[in-house]
Amino acid sequence: MYYPDEIIEEVREKNNIVDVVGERVRIQKKGSSYFGLCPFHNEKSPSFSVNEPRQIFHCFGCGASGNVFTFLMKYENMTFQEAVQALAERAGVKLPEQEQSPQAKQASNRRAQLLEICKEAAKYFYVSLREERGAQGMEYFRKRQLTDETMQRFGLGYSHKTSSDLCKYLKSKGYDDKLIIEAGLGTFDERYGMHDKFWNRVMFPIQDQNHRVIGFGGRVMGDGEPKYLNSPETPIFDKSRNLYGLNYARSSRAGNIILCEGYMDVIAMHQAGFTQAVASLGTAFTEGQANILRRYAQNILLAYDSDGPGVKAALRAIGILRECGLSGKIIHMEPYKDPDEFIKNLGKDAFQERIDKAENSFFFEIRIMGREYHMDDPDEKTRYYHAIAKKLITTFPEEVERENYLQAVAAEFTIGTDQLRKLVLQEASAGITVPQRPRSGIQKKDTDTSAVKAEKMLLSWFTDVPGLYKKVRKYLTPDDFPDPVFHKVAEKLFEQLEQDQVNPASIISTFEAEEDQRKAGSVFNAQVGDLKTQQDKEKAFQDLLCTVKKNSYEQLSASLAGDVNALGKLIEGKKMLEELNRIHISMDDLL
Ligand code: GTP
Ligand code: MN
Repeated sequence: MYYPDEIIEEVREKNNIVDVVGERVRIQKKGSSYFGLCPFHNEKSPSFSVNEPRQIFHCFGCGASGNVFTFLMKYENMTFQEAVQALAERAGVKLPEQEQSPQAKQASNRRAQLLEICKEAAKYFYVSLREERGAQGMEYFRKRQLTDETMQRFGLGYSHKTSSDLCKYLKSKGYDDKLIIEAGLGTFDERYGMHDKFWNRVMFPIQDQNHRVIGFGGRVMGDGEPKYLNSPETPIFDKSRNLYGLNYARSSRAGNIILCEGYMDVIAMHQAGFTQAVASLGTAFTEGQANILRRYAQNILLAYDSDGPGVKAALRAIGILRECGLSGKIIHMEPYKDPDEFIKNLGKDAFQERIDKAENSFFFEIRIMGREYHMDDPDEKTRYYHAIAKKLITTFPEEVERENYLQAVAAEFTIGTDQLRKLVLQEASAGITVPQRPRSGIQKKDTDTSAVKAEKMLLSWFTDVPGLYKKVRKYLTPDDFPDPVFHKVAEKLFEQLEQDQVNPASIISTFEAEEDQRKAGSVFNAQVGDLKTQQDKEKAFQDLLCTVKKNSYEQLSASLAGDVNALGKLIEGKKMLEELNRIHISMDDLL
């Protein structure tokens, strides 16, 4: 961490989470908390809450959780350092310069410079399109039926025929060759010197979620190779973590996201009112992109080209979506090739109908698979059914889900349900292994084990009723919380409880990774449930304490197995457990 804890804490204290969230999300006070629609997943009724006294937020729907830094990191796609900097600026806190490592500082300066030069280039292309010299580009876009408003909204532009136009302009503005090259806007040639990467093309600036230009796509006007030329990856342009159109789609309230292949498809859909459309950036759809989409919608509709490569790309995307816990559906465009052509020919109402009739992605996969079999040949048909059974097993490791799909597939593909079930059993016993999910790198909403739940609730209870801690502190140490995040939370919280200064939000910012902050935040939002009488509360508390101690004891004894010297420790632990079961922890003086 580059900034000292005191500074981070000062910045946090000077930025009331209610204000920072309120500047971005509509929240309303209800009781002791503020509530609103969660900005991190799509929902119709508010389950996103901001707790002012504790200075933390939590979504009961998607599990997002944390303090004011976490919120900004998630909402603005920032790193921890960037969130600290932004909030320091907001509150007028001066951050120590030297605290950033020289490399980090250089890198963030460079990123700022790259963003600036891309913005300058985008402005230049934008103006060029609207000049006399840009007439050909304008004519091209008009022919593709884009309105002036659409062209403005997407910042469309034009690069001139002369091939060093932009470089000259950028240099006149004081940017050096090195930066121009690093931004992917120009290249150096021994013979001709600096020249533009993009020339004689209509230009599509590519923006990140916060409307900052990070790269470009340029299309030839007519035929020619390559049809689209895209900026190379740069420190600000990560093709696997950005999506074209997301800067607008993120605030669409359609309840789904439409994922397609082309920039022109996105633009045509937005122009027709489908502002939830996004596209990958001339590269295949990635897990990183799926994880970003998950913040905005659970349902992803695929509007890929209806040709061979489009179908193949769709099949790949379906797999990625499923791995990331998202549900995918296929929008069919036949007889047209892509959404742009479809909407041009049949209009937006027809497209909405296709959205409503989007096909379940598993049915789509099976249907495509079926193309390889001749159904009028009984042997081939049997093999196809076997393949379906196999796919059911590998796709749905959970029995309930598999059975539901089995029934639906049997109905849709007119196979007898019992017959299909028999095949599934046959294939399963033939040793098809069910894949382990989730795979690495994919984050899903956790389902806590009972041990983890108990740990969280116990810590949360101390935050609510600090006096309880002193009654039981002799039984507890941070080591009773084996998970590294919870361990650290317990350590910090116990320190604060000793000093009668409980401050959950400050504990959260001792973690730098967003995922760890979410986990730490979830501790302070654990719900103990509705307990009416004092007796119930005392009983529940004692149960929690015993559960946590018992788990910790079991872990300890497993790790010490065979170690004779550890016997004393184990006996001691056992005695404490017995004592905990016997004692009565009274809440008389606390509630
Ligand atoms: P239009 O012909 O303008 O309607 O294009 P489209 O939107 O139908 O695009 P197409 O299906 O041809 O390609 C989809 C996407 O793939 C484009 O938006 C580009 O991002 C990318 N792409 C297309 N052609 C090329 C190419 O020649 N090179 C590279 N690198 N990317 C391309
Ligand atoms: Mn097209």
